[in-house]
Amino acid sequence: MPLLRIVNYPEKVLLEVAKPVGSEDFANGLRHLVDDMFETMYSAGGVGLAAPQVGVSKRLFVMDCSGGEDPSQKVALINPEILSVEGEQYGDEGCLSFPGIYTKVHREMRTVVRFLDVSGEEQELDVTELPARCVLHETDHCDGIVFLDRMSPLKREMARRKIRKLQKTGEWE
Ligand code: NI
Repeated sequence: MPLLRIVNYPEKVLLEVAKPVGSEDFANGLRHLVDDMFETMYSAGGVGLAAPQVGVSKRLFVMDCSGGEDPSQKVALINPEILSVEGEQYGDEGCLSFPGIYTKVHREMRTVVRFLDVSGEEQELDVTELPARCVLHETDHCDGIVFLDRMSPLKREMARRKIRKLQKTGEWE
């Protein structure tokens, strides 16, 4: 399976609200896209990857917080909708569209998300800790929100400075 190209911030597609996945998408190679996104995510060493990150402005993402160890954690969420959030966690976060940037970010501790699976069946997930962080981060991508937007102003400025430096030396495309 071919690996997809992951786009880096501030590529326009990362900053747009993505379009809902429709029945025509299910009929036209959605499963193929999802397979390629899993392959690309595993290859890049990530635990989540949203379609806008591979240049596709559609509301879907793949995640596996076990890094391929536990098949039950490998899941594709199509048209995700956050039903509820609860509590708080503060921990390190990264993003495949921000290579080399890891920063502590506040997120809710628990979330319930409703979505369609690759067969078009409605499902719900009730997750905490890292999977909750991942669901919230990836659902943000579907809304054109990146984790830079979730950082404290000080951490955001530090991240911006690092990105500018990497852009200057050509290490950030
Ligand atoms: Ni991300």
